[in-house]
Amino acid sequence: MSAAERQDWLAGPAAALRGSLRVPGDKSVSHRAVMLGALADGVTTISGFLDGEDTRATARILQQLGVRIEVPSAGERVVHGAGLHGLRDAGRPLDCGNAGTGMRLLVGVLAGQAFDTTLVGDASLSKRPMRRVIEPLAAMGARIDAEDGGLPPLRIRGGRVLHGIDYALPVASAQVKSALLLAGLYAQGQTVVREPHPTRDYTERMLAAFGWPIDFAPGVARLSGGHRLHATAVEVPSDFSSAAFFVVAASVVPGSQLRIEAVGVNPRRIGLLHALRLMGADIREEGLREQGGEPVADLIVRHAPLHGIEVPPALVPDMIDEFPALFVAAACARGATVISGAAELRVKESDRIATMAQGLQALGVAVEETADGAVIHGGAIRAGSVDSHGDHRIAMSFAVAAQVAEGEIRIGDVGNVATSFPGFVSLATGAGLSLRAAGDG
Ligand code: S3P
Repeated sequence: MSAAERQDWLAGPAAALRGSLRVPGDKSVSHRAVMLGALADGVTTISGFLDGEDTRATARILQQLGVRIEVPSAGERVVHGAGLHGLRDAGRPLDCGNAGTGMRLLVGVLAGQAFDTTLVGDASLSKRPMRRVIEPLAAMGARIDAEDGGLPPLRIRGGRVLHGIDYALPVASAQVKSALLLAGLYAQGQTVVREPHPTRDYTERMLAAFGWPIDFAPGVARLSGGHRLHATAVEVPSDFSSAAFFVVAASVVPGSQLRIEAVGVNPRRIGLLHALRLMGADIREEGLREQGGEPVADLIVRHAPLHGIEVPPALVPDMIDEFPALFVAAACARGATVISGAAELRVKESDRIATMAQGLQALGVAVEETADGAVIHGGAIRAGSVDSHGDHRIAMSFAVAAQVAEGEIRIGDVGNVATSFPGFVSLATGAGLSLRAAGDG
């Protein structure tokens, strides 16, 4: 998005949230589905695909690498797999947009190709650390050149012979784990990835669904090169991280009762539910079932008074994308909420500790930043103006905060909400949130 197209929102306050809604498909699962479909033999159908800018960027890159992808409707993709060795040199830099997941996972795939590639990203992605994938991939035999500081663009050399490694991740990261497993498809011998804390295991589950032999348990995954991927049908569940904004909104706006339908509730994603329940939230999971091999449930959220907690550090990896929303819940809670062990938040789409702290402070909430977290003192949220720093989850979190504010809040630079949550404004206003584009009158 160019500066000329910068969008702002005007939000809140609102009365109770009511009714029932369904959020778009899971971003993590959508990225992986289109990548594995592209590398498989045969035709993969994807339903519930997230038609957001991040996942569209990944699909576009695969098309530029020679994969035919049909779009029968916004939430569907038909991927004509090129086979493990069927990608072709695109002859130009490939643009991952805002997507850290897209770039990090694709590096793993591209490290195993016969041709060179360059991956570029937008201003935010160009500031995100890539050494975490470059170094272990180099240990597998890959050659990837980055800008100073290990930043994108990334130049990935083709024609390298990769060999498996046994690697212990220094930080819990599903993206790094996935990059190594995807490179491991092209490697000689066994690739083993060990995690300091289990992270989302979609790559492992999906490789198994595409017929690749893989052993995995929480905290460790192991596979060998030399097999083939077989096309399959992928049903993408609704994204818990998108549902999270409505879970917090219904918890904090008095009188609310909201049903969020068919949300993916993979245990590695729902740390926020545990944290909110510790704070006193009233959230029920109903109709737990399986959809495309993933647990899904309806979430029924009723307003409840919240109180501050010390967020258990063990929950952090299971709610890594939900901290902006949790900051808002904490601002609405009685007493202090202490977040620690979350230094990874500083290298997301923005420095999420700093952007949430500055935004809440601008609205009169007392927040102390720490190196790896923050202390948030619940209190009144005043009218005012905040900057999302182009971070989709920061923008949506402040839209939630505005619903309980004393007056209207202007939220700056919200265009990137379309990376993960196309249609957020209409879904949110349908549920009763007060939210509109600045300039809409
Ligand atoms: C993701 C993993 C997480 C998460 C990101 C999506 C994935 O990142 O924050 O939104 O799809 O694997 P890290 O692996 O960097 O923690």
